[in-house]
Amino acid sequence: MKLINNTVFDCSIIDVSKIHNEAGNITVVENGYNIPFEVKRVYYLYDIPGGEVRGGHAHYELQQFIIAASGSFDVILDDGKNKKRVTLNRPNLALHIVPGLWRELDNFSSGSICLVLASHQYDEGDYIREYTKFKQYRNE
Ligand code: TYD
Repeated sequence: MKLINNTVFDCSIIDVSKIHNEAGNITVVENGYNIPFEVKRVYYLYDIPGGEVRGGHAHYELQQFIIAASGSFDVILDDGKNKKRVTLNRPNLALHIVPGLWRELDNFSSGSICLVLASHQYDEGDYIREYTKFKQYRNE
């Protein structure tokens, strides 16, 4: 797959569903069942100060599921031509981010938790952290 052909329209919100009962809800994400890649790493952002912007980078290979495990925030996706702002505010909805897209996260509500399921282990070499370099990569 030529990753740099990916666009913001290849990213979708997937309802990973929930098991509801009177004692509360459970949402399950399971490899081979309701996620389109194998999860190799899980991390979460929390204690995010008001007005903070996170992200500001792209990945060559990494795919991610981003979930508002608590509260809400926005993800801004950018493929070099199109931009899309997605609000996440339900713990059963995951935003699937395909490789090759610039992303920023903002509008974090107080106490929000951003849960990320990732397709690869951490590798700084997979990051593009400069927007000009990202634009160059997309125009190659
Ligand atoms: P970064 O991915 O830039 O955070 P965000 O996109 O949420 O703003 O990572 C922030 C710092 O944390 C950076 O120094 C790298 C480090 N880090 C790890 O060591 N391992 C990881 O799995 C992640 C996601 C980040």
